[in-house]
Amino acid sequence: KIKACLFDLDGVLVDTAVYHYQAWKRLANTMGFDFTETQNEQLKGVSRVESLNKILAWGKVEKTAAEKEELATLKNSWYVDMITKMTPAEVLPGTVDFLTEIHKAGYKLALGSASKNSGIILERTNLAHFFDEIVDGNMVTKSKPDPEVFLKGAELLGFQPDECVVFEDAVAGVEAAKRGGMKAIGIGEKNVLTDADFVVSGLDKLTVKDLESL
Ligand code: G6P
Ligand code: MG
Repeated sequence: KIKACLFDLDGVLVDTAVYHYQAWKRLANTMGFDFTETQNEQLKGVSRVESLNKILAWGKVEKTAAEKEELATLKNSWYVDMITKMTPAEVLPGTVDFLTEIHKAGYKLALGSASKNSGIILERTNLAHFFDEIVDGNMVTKSKPDPEVFLKGAELLGFQPDECVVFEDAVAGVEAAKRGGMKAIGIGEKNVLTDADFVVSGLDKLTVKDLESL
């Protein structure tokens, strides 16, 4: 029986996936190449450093460790410029209602995000108070699809993996949930998130009943 809900942040609760994409695209463009939206799917849920490595490989560009550090910092500065201007209006449709509903129904909630910027986003969007535990990129060493971020969330909440459901928009995130022995609800498209237990277009399509049937 499901007792806890673990939420990815970017692309599930807030529309920051778009900002990540814009900032990475701008970085690639400054190096003289571009990448597609389909390629971008592979960056979702993946840490900053690993995202950069993938992008450099697509552009067939080689950089030293020091140059990579600089590029990642540059991308992050553009990204932070965008997220510091966020407002609660950028919380994705249905999010506040769904979080309120499951909280009232007695489920425990944790954040499980690869982002090192989760604090500022949760604060700007007024979502922080919903979460009993927050696990983010500052607390894990292994990036999704490794299950570390979700296993840590389950442990902090005090539940077994099979008592947890993960909400994810990323292929890597759904894989992380499954490898951790958890249920996964995909937020996005069925043909992309093929390993999820089921897929919806957003939290506005879910009610507490959907958790009881898992
Ligand atoms: C999330 C996003 C990724 C992002 C990662 C790290 O998982 O889906 O696109 O690269 O977080 O985010 P950060 O804010 O630390 O650069
Ligand atoms: Mg995401």
